[in-house]
Amino acid sequence: MVVNLSEQYSLLSDWIGEIRDEEIQKDRLRFRRNLERIGEVAAYEISKTLKHNPKDVQTPLGVANVKVLSEQPVLCTILRAGLPLHQGLLNFFDKADNGFISAYRKHNRDGSFEISLEYVSCPDLEGRVVIISDPMLATGASLVKTIRYLREEGHPAEIHVVVAIACTVGIEYVLRGEPQCKIWCGAIDDELTAKGYIVPGLGDAGDLAFGSKAQM
Ligand code: URA
Repeated sequence: MVVNLSEQYSLLSDWIGEIRDEEIQKDRLRFRRNLERIGEVAAYEISKTLKHNPKDVQTPLGVANVKVLSEQPVLCTILRAGLPLHQGLLNFFDKADNGFISAYRKHNRDGSFEISLEYVSCPDLEGRVVIISDPMLATGASLVKTIRYLREEGHPAEIHVVVAIACTVGIEYVLRGEPQCKIWCGAIDDELTAKGYIVPGLGDAGDLAFGSKAQM
């Protein structure tokens, strides 16, 4: 299942426009905050699909029957670019457990790259709803590698993927490898360059959020 959150007009489209805009991108605080807001909207949309239980709550005037989330999800993100989107999800799923994964592109001399998965810090995922965030779904290679690893570590009941911008080939790659996962996208672009950048995309999300890095 793929949900394109900007298919319907909403404030989210403004924030997607801002994270793409090379002038507004110069304001790193705004770039990170916009990713966070996209994470917040995605959390709200995902919450509509999750199980809720009835609960009686004592108010100062009586008893109200409310609905509460049956169980807390596990929010996992891919370092470092995923952090602002993750924070947005955590602002709304504020009682969630959290996992962190370091997956990065290890470049070869010929320009090709492999995904290297190094640091993983996750709670037990058995039977849990797992929400993985990464701002850009480009080739999909790091997401598939991460999902496979998490499936081997535990057996999550559901896997949701939240991205700000996805490209069509990346979505197809993830759904071919992991057909049960649900992908929530802020926007979908059609082009992917040979170097694995989404066009028009927004550039390098990690650099825009946190500054450039010396390591390739
Ligand atoms: N990662 C990014 O930061 N940008 C892209 O376009 C693709 C992957």
